[in-house]
Amino acid sequence: MKKILVIHGPNLNLLGMREPGVYGDERFETLNDRIRQKAEALGVACEIFQSNSEGALVDKIQQAVGNADGIVINPAAYTHYSIALRDALAAVKLPAIEVHISNVHAREEFRHVSLTAPVVRGQIVGLGTDGYLLAMEALVKLL
Ligand code: DQA
Repeated sequence: MKKILVIHGPNLNLLGMREPGVYGDERFETLNDRIRQKAEALGVACEIFQSNSEGALVDKIQQAVGNADGIVINPAAYTHYSIALRDALAAVKLPAIEVHISNVHAREEFRHVSLTAPVVRGQIVGLGTDGYLLAMEALVKLL
């Protein structure tokens, strides 16, 4: 059975409480339940990981080699400035899809830049938390 690693970056653990006008009111655990249900429906195994720490996210991406077949990642704020995350994604060579809940292009200019975009297979942006599920569908097709 194929396995997908779903990674949430910093502050996404606060979903539901955090800026609901931007990120919606779905709680983090509810989203993770939907991710698990989607994995079951797609016939894949799935591991979900969240960290607020750049190094922990880099470690998790590195450990995905041999442990997962592909990655869905919302790098959150690190998207916009983490060379370390970008290098980790490039190094492991696993197919990855980047997700943003909000439409980052309709927000502040610093959110228009993604350092990770060039090393992922594609991005899903601005479709709310459903973006994770759409990314999982796309990833499974790629695997
Ligand atoms: C985000 C967008 C980022 O700019 C922001 O820092 C986040 C969440 C999103 O999912 O819309 O934390 O990645």
